[in-house]
Order: sequence, then structure tokens, then C-alpha cells
Amino acid sequence: MTETVCFKNIGQLIQTDVSADGQPRLKFSNHSALLVKNGRIESVVPSSGLKSSDYSKTVDLKGKTVIPGFVDCHTHLIYAGERKEEMEQRLDGSSYMDILKNGGGILNTVHATRKADAQSLFVTARTRMRRMMALGTTAFEIKSGYGLDLSTEKKMLRVGRRLKDALRIPVTLTYLGAHAVPQGSTRSQYFNFVMEHLPEFRDLADGVDIFCDRGAFKAQDLRRLFLHAKLVGFSQLRAHVEELSHQGACAEAARLGAHSCDHLEHASPNDIRAMKHAGTVAVLMPGVTFFLGEEKIPLVHSMIDAGVTLALATDCNPGSSPTYNMQTVLNLACHLYRITPEQALIAATYGSAKALIEHTEYGSLKPGQRADFLALKTSDYRDLFYYFGENFVESTYIAGRPVRTAKNPATE
Ligand code: NIG
Ligand code: FE
Repeated sequence: MTETVCFKNIGQLIQTDVSADGQPRLKFSNHSALLVKNGRIESVVPSSGLKSSDYSKTVDLKGKTVIPGFVDCHTHLIYAGERKEEMEQRLDGSSYMDILKNGGGILNTVHATRKADAQSLFVTARTRMRRMMALGTTAFEIKSGYGLDLSTEKKMLRVGRRLKDALRIPVTLTYLGAHAVPQGSTRSQYFNFVMEHLPEFRDLADGVDIFCDRGAFKAQDLRRLFLHAKLVGFSQLRAHVEELSHQGACAEAARLGAHSCDHLEHASPNDIRAMKHAGTVAVLMPGVTFFLGEEKIPLVHSMIDAGVTLALATDCNPGSSPTYNMQTVLNLACHLYRITPEQALIAATYGSAKALIEHTEYGSLKPGQRADFLALKTSDYRDLFYYFGENFVESTYIAGRPVRTAKNPATE
């Protein structure tokens, strides 16, 4: 049965349109109504003169501002345990990579995640996702990478699949076997193991990812992984690159057709040219800069000037960015990168969607797209960027349906 829901009395509706110069821009419509048919945007019409009897249901949004839902295109939200002691060590002067080198960091979470059963990983991740949805996230990317062995990596990705089915929300799954070198292996031993077993992950994940940095993997590993992943038939290639040092992995990833290059604090003008040339999305995660206390800010304005698509994501994980809140990420992006609210909002919706599969399905509130949108508590969307530490999302709608408000606290 077809069902048209009319969301009336929207004070300001914000969509994204690609203008004649090929650049995305926000499009504002005042006093409008959104017609949603079978979970998709049908049209935007003036709010005056609507007849409720024409629709299966009418929802009065009472002058609220409506924006597209946030797309969180880089998360590690399936994990066990927390890393508060490491936060204290870092605040006392230890570095993120030194902690990893000594068997902590990512390896600490690997230890806890290997021990956790699938059901407890599912329940804790579902709690996190519900919290994230209440804060405005309507599509996710989720990585494995806290197993570094076959059974735990597969367990994580199967949990990801269950989350996607249970929450009925767009989820892109990524196999991140090359996240760190497990204890007891050398880099090359472990990397060869990842390569050998890559085909086993083809049905469990949409794409692959690799962490390239000093103390992790190298640009040459990325090259081998991507070439093999393409042969095996993975549709998405993404990479953690140029985060803590410059390794040349971003340009290599772009040349090999990466959908996204993520982090990029140390990316160079040459890397930016390579991303532009390849149409690679630059995924920026200012929560990591904030939480790790890193001073290096990516060359965001050079990326914008070059016409590279920017995306924003939480990087939600227990070590470098324990946040569930895309609103915080948008706010940090504006002020750490000195970009405008318009640029940040476009990056967190349209841009992040471009980094994922099904990217034409959501992100702009265009007719035909999924009706994934947020009703804000404010009449001015710039409040998201002006006030910090507030929650401006009154309700989140996914495919035209309201998400139940999560009362869960930030920790489980
Ligand atoms: O994206 N840089 C490497 N990986 C993650 C952190 C994961 C962790 O510390 O648990 C990141 O920041
Ligand atoms: Fe990450």
C-alpha cells in the first residue's frame, strides 16, 4: 500500500543541490512541507493550503528547521572495553603510537574484543548506534579491525550485518584486517596472512581498509592489498593515511581508485591533487585531532580550493575518538579547520554519503532519496556551530519514521 506522509510547517528546510559549477551548495526553503512516499522524498511544497485528507498522515513540525541526517562514514563502533588509562597516560606525555608499540592502544581493544562474545558485542554496539541516531546519524560505515585473527574479524563483521538488519538503517561494512600487527607476528608475516585470507571476507564486507603509518602498515602494503581486493571483487577501497606522519599512502590509494582517504592531517598538496584526479573523498575527523591533542591540521582549504569532496566522520572508537556525536564533529570541524557552517554541514551529509555505497540514496534530501532527516530544536541551523556541547536534534527521521529517543547514557 502506498503511504504519503506530509511533514508540514517546516520553518526552514535545508537540502543540498549541486550548482552549475559542480559544487554542492545548501538550498533553503522557508515555510515548506516535505511529502514522503514509502519512506522516500517525493517533493517539497509550500506549507500553506495543504489538505490533511490528501495524505495518509500529517506531521506538524511547528516551525522547526529540517536538515539532512548526518552520514558517519568512518566508525569502529563494534568493540569491547574502554581505554581511559591510556587517555591518562597520553595526558601525562605518552604518545598514541608508543602506547601501541608497548602492546596497548589498538592491541588493548583487540584483547578485549577477542574475549567478548558476539551477542555482547551486538548489544553494546546497538546501544551506541541508537545513541548516535538520536544525536542525528542516519547512515553508518562500520569497520572490523579489533580481531586481527580470522574468527574475531569475522565475528565483528557478522555483528555488523546483524546491526544493519536489526536497525534497518544504511550500513556499509569494511574489513580492516590490516589495522595493527598482532603480538607474536612481524608486519610482513601478518600482512601475508591478511592477503591470503582476503577472499574469505568478500561476502562479509563491502570494502577493505588499511592503517598506514609508522608502526603500522606501509604504502607498499596498501598497494598489494588494494590490487588483491579489486581482483577478489571488493567494491570499496578506503584507507587510514597520513594521520601521524607522511607515508605516501594517500597518493598511492588515490591512484588505485580509493573511494576515500581518511585522516589526512599530514597530506601534502601532491596528495590533494591525486585525490582530486581520482575523485577520492577526503574524510576528516576533527574529533581525533581534539582527543589526541594533535597540532597538525589537514590542509582543508587547499582541498576545498582543489575541488576535493570533503566528508566528516566521528571515527567513533575507544582510543582516538570516543564520541557518538556528529554534532560535536561538525562544530569542531568549523572551528579547528576554519570552515563555514555550510561547508561543514555539506561535508557531514552530501560529502560523507559520497564516500559510501548507495551514496545517491541519501545525504541531500533530494526527491527520490530516502527521507532521512533531522528536525532541529532551533530555527537557525548555525546554532549547531555556534553553541558547543549542546544537542540541537529534536527528532531523527529515518525513511520518514521517527527514531525512538535513546535514553542510554554515553557509556554502557
Ligand atoms: O582511526 N588510526 C588508527 N585507527 C583508529 C584508532 C583505533 C583505536 O585507537 O582503537 C583511528 O584513529
Ligand atoms: Fe579510524
